[in-house]
Amino acid sequence: MRLPKVIGHRGAAALAPENTLAGLRLAAELGARCVEFDTKLTADGRCIVFHDETLERTTDGRGRVAATRYDDIAGLDAGAWFGARFAGERVPSLDAALDTLFALDLAADIEIKACPGRESETGRAVAAEVAARWPACRAAPLITSFSPESLAAVRAAAPALPIGLLGFGLPADWRARLDALDCRVFVCLHRHLTRRKLATLREAGVTVVAFTVDEPWRAVELLDWGVASVISNDPGAVLAAARAHGHGDADADPACGPAAGAGR
Ligand code: G3P
Ligand code: CA
Repeated sequence: MRLPKVIGHRGAAALAPENTLAGLRLAAELGARCVEFDTKLTADGRCIVFHDETLERTTDGRGRVAATRYDDIAGLDAGAWFGARFAGERVPSLDAALDTLFALDLAADIEIKACPGRESETGRAVAAEVAARWPACRAAPLITSFSPESLAAVRAAAPALPIGLLGFGLPADWRARLDALDCRVFVCLHRHLTRRKLATLREAGVTVVAFTVDEPWRAVELLDWGVASVISNDPGAVLAAARAHGHGDADADPACGPAAGAGR
């Protein structure tokens, strides 16, 4: 698949509360054509956009997400912790996030960040919701996870959705891991990515994405080496540097482009 060169991390997490609709909107205002966000399940099985296993860091709630019902999470403030002007932001449902992507013509990297023990269940639920709602005219979103169990569940539930395996580094058995999932995208912590490792992956036909890259010079270096995309908390600054060094998005799939699944 041909991804945009710069992907906003948790929306635009340096500039707006992570994993909120305000963050997705700001990423688009900054020029990003693709956003990454995290998904998990509430106690009653709703897909929400949220990173942590617990509510304290990014909301005014308390407790474990896996033990809290959707209606109770939906009423929490997910913006005031970041700044007064974001007070009243909510924890989005996946459904609301998809609406926002479609309205803003954004592509997406949807990370499955399952609560422990819910890896397969979360993969199935996210894949089912995305597959049911994603318009056939739009380039399919990339579904990523550190969890092979979650990705296998996505594969089983929605085989046409492209998937990407996340890793903090390149495991010795990377080829077997990717093959087992029929996966051709690897999303790697940028500090562990060398030019040589990248070349090895690319020679094997693997699309490589690097996270989380906030220094513009490093983003340019990685794009020069041949990563497909960099994921950044400050997509505007990184985009400006990327464009200044000839890394435009002309060859990315348009958000409303080939049918879903064409990029697998
Ligand atoms: O997509 C890469 C990155 O988002 C994974 O780490 O903890 O920010 O979700 P984290
Ligand atoms: Ca993430």
